[in-house]
Amino acid sequence: MNRVAGKVAIVTGGARGIGRADALKLASEGARVIVADIDEAGGQAVAAEAPGIEFVRHDVRDEAAWQELVHATVTRHGRLDVLVNNAGVIHVGDPLTSERAETRHMFEVNVDGTMLGCKYAIPAMIDSGGGSIINMSSIASSSGLYFFAGYCATKGAIAAYTKVVAVYCAQNRLNIRCNSIHPGGIDTPMNTGLEREFAAKIAGMRLPANSPVSADAPKMRYGQPDDIAFAVVYLASDESRFTSGAEFYIENTSTITAAVVG
Ligand SMILES: NC(=O)c1ccc[n+]([C@@H]2O[C@H](COP(=O)([O-])OP(=O)(O)OC[C@H]3O[C@@H](n4cnc5c(N)ncnc54)[C@H](O)[C@@H]3O)[C@@H](O)[C@H]2O)c1
Repeated sequence: MNRVAGKVAIVTGGARGIGRADALKLASEGARVIVADIDEAGGQAVAAEAPGIEFVRHDVRDEAAWQELVHATVTRHGRLDVLVNNAGVIHVGDPLTSERAETRHMFEVNVDGTMLGCKYAIPAMIDSGGGSIINMSSIASSSGLYFFAGYCATKGAIAAYTKVVAVYCAQNRLNIRCNSIHPGGIDTPMNTGLEREFAAKIAGMRLPANSPVSADAPKMRYGQPDDIAFAVVYLASDESRFTSGAEFYIENTSTITAAVVG
């Protein structure tokens, strides 16, 4: 019940999906949670679900907004212990069909958003005596899912940057951990939209008939948002105090077999 009692956590993209589950689980384990999202209605709804959650409208691409979010959090709650860089977007496209504007959108939200979060959370965590940063990567960081070409690149960048931050914090004795979580397919609104986009674009992409990748790929058996939230609680809590720079794959074998497990 109290695995993160007294901790103050920011969860980006917490208005729905995995971020919502992270926020609810952290709050149920005693944390004060700030859900930071561009979705005002969804964010307010999550805040109404538990007394320990509040919502702040926040675009992770906006550097000034990050300064304000961290400053307001510390002013209001006295500290910052946990940052979950969860906000993310996905677009479909292979190496020849990826659209530049969609790729830029993914890099700005997924990579810039994560880097800015680290940049402004670390000083606040130093002042708090330490902390934990949890970056939401994906199995896409290492699986060569070429129909999500740009998305894979952003998730690989997040995994690499997680190690940069982990080593920076360890070598400077900052008592701040940084780890990445790599979910497989999780049942969230992101995947509902993705299936539609995939269906619309698949005809224009090269997908060999004998490829283990098929039009059904996005429909592989999904996990639930809570499957990721349990790992977030572990990484946010002091239970993970000796864990930094690690990749947590939560994906029920999808990265070690060519077969889609349905
Ligand atoms: N669902 C999956 O199968 C899956 C698998 C692997 C990794 N992930 C990653 O997990 C994270 C959450 O995914 P999800 O499935 O819950 O997605 P989702 O689309 O259901 O929710 C994403 C949330 O991020 C918010 N968001 C988008 N752009 C934002 C911005 N600029 N600033 C602030 N918030 C913004 C959205 O409003 C939304 O509330 C993402 O980083 C995603 O890439 C998801």
